Amino acid sequence: MSIQTKKVAKKVTLTTIAKMKGVEPITMVTAYDALFAKLFNEEVDMILVGDSLNMSFLGKEDTLSATMNQMIYHTQAVCNGASLPLIVLDMPFGSYTNEVDAVKNATRAYQETNAQAVKIEGGKERANIVKALTDNSIAVLGHIGLMPQFVRSDGGYKVRGKDKTDIANLVADAKALEEAGAFAIVVEGVKAEAAKAITEAVTIPTIGIGAGVHTDGQVLVWSDMFGFFEAFKPKFVKQYANGAKVIRENLKQYKNEVKNREFPSDKFTY
Ligand code: KIV
Repeated sequence: MSIQTKKVAKKVTLTTIAKMKGVEPITMVTAYDALFAKLFNEEVDMILVGDSLNMSFLGKEDTLSATMNQMIYHTQAVCNGASLPLIVLDMPFGSYTNEVDAVKNATRAYQETNAQAVKIEGGKERANIVKALTDNSIAVLGHIGLMPQFVRSDGGYKVRGKDKTDIANLVADAKALEEAGAFAIVVEGVKAEAAKAITEAVTIPTIGIGAGVHTDGQVLVWSDMFGFFEAFKPKFVKQYANGAKVIRENLKQYKNEVKNREFPSDKFTY
């Protein structure tokens, strides 16, 4: 874990994250359950209960059908497993369409889970929503660049920040979110040059995914980075393990041992 946890493992707070900008890269992964959250607990600064769970865990094509109930259920599980990282609940599509709904749903997230913040997708066009939330004492992690919740309206997953105009748009988005009170911003699927410009333009940390090395931190979806999600692998995902292969091989061994009556042997029998 980060600087502060090298001494004594302490709960990561919004202040901890703010202080890390320009000092130490922030590590963030997604988690959807207590089992894995517990494994990640001592290692990362932040955990995102991402609506990506709708794809990797529910088997849906995109994130759009995730619901508040789903996000609350999984965030409760993650909070049960992880005591140290700062935990963020990803607000699902349709839950922050206007200020009233956003405050109502995010308040529910705060009341029914121990998440310390919520994440919403959108730049300047949703700065009013971020402001409504932060005005109501709900911490917000912004999310700009490629925004999976708007993949249908945007016509697909498109890398952003390819020209000067788009870089300027992204910088304006980031500044609007900072102004509205966001404590940090996820920057997804943008050219490294754009991520650098965004990171330099704001005083709050940027957390990149598919955004190169110049952001203040990195986030990856755990089932991608450990090789469990096989539907597709974006260029930016580094697979730190081949989880699917490990599971398949060991399951095959279990199957063979059961079929051959090798398992359970005496060692596993009362
Ligand atoms: O839902 C998610 O996992 C995310 C990350 C890709 C940042 O939003």
